[in-house]
Amino acid sequence: MNVAVALLLIVLYCSGAMTAVVPACEIPGDVVEETHILLRDLGAPFPARCLPYNANVTFPRAALANETQCRRALRNLRRTLQGSEKVFEDNEAPQGDGEVAWNPRKLEDFQNLQNRVVQEAECLSSAGARSYPEFSSYFGNVSALVQQQESTACGWSMLRRDVLWVLKNSLQKHHSCFRW
Ligand SMILES: *[C@@H]1O[C@H](CO)[C@@H](O)[C@H](O)[C@H]1NC(C)=O
Ligand SMILES: *[C@@H]1O[C@H](CO)[C@@H](O)[C@H](O)[C@H]1NC(C)=O
Ligand SMILES: *[C@@H]1O[C@H](CO)[C@@H](O)[C@H](O)[C@H]1NC(C)=O
Repeated sequence: MNVAVALLLIVLYCSGAMTAVVPACEIPGDVVEETHILLRDLGAPFPARCLPYNANVTFPRAALANETQCRRALRNLRRTLQGSEKVFEDNEAPQGDGEVAWNPRKLEDFQNLQNRVVQEAECLSSAGARSYPEFSSYFGNVSALVQQQESTACGWSMLRRDVLWVLKNSLQKHHSCFRW
């Protein structure tokens, strides 16, 4: 390697231009896209009457919106889907009445793909990763809403809205982090 090339690499590296390189651990973008579409088309939009619950349950958006590193962004995407998966596992999924009249077929397909993304991203769950206590706080609060009869519909609606945002944000802001 000649000196000019070596210098160019050093300059690129130091300017951060190389941090956008796709990580060794690859997540298929088309699967994430399909997961997003299924969740989006699952049912009616977010019910306005659930808005007051925003005061009690706030998704840690900054952990994704302001993340510049692929690895960290994808890790937070995985964290979100894993937390969501747990809420589905621990609670009876919406049965298709009232505000959460979700298409059962789409719901099942969504859950399968959600699990697939979590599995594909397993390689990102390394020890020593920065922990976000906001995530456990968020999922604890959402679960609490889902578990109380009067707020069940709002709890599920919030979970869907927030996971939808995470998928969309990841695809838009971290598009190059996925394998296409
Ligand atoms: C939000 O939390 C506060 C205090 O924990 C509680 O009094 C209030 O009823 C909750 N609001 C909703 C909409 O659940
Ligand atoms: C969860 O609820 C607690 C108690 O109402 C509140 O202090 C905390 O900010 C909430 N956390 C999130 C992430 O919404
Ligand atoms: C991202 O960071 C900027 C500047 O610190 C802040 O104004 C913005 O609200 C953050 N975005 C989110 C979603 O928290």
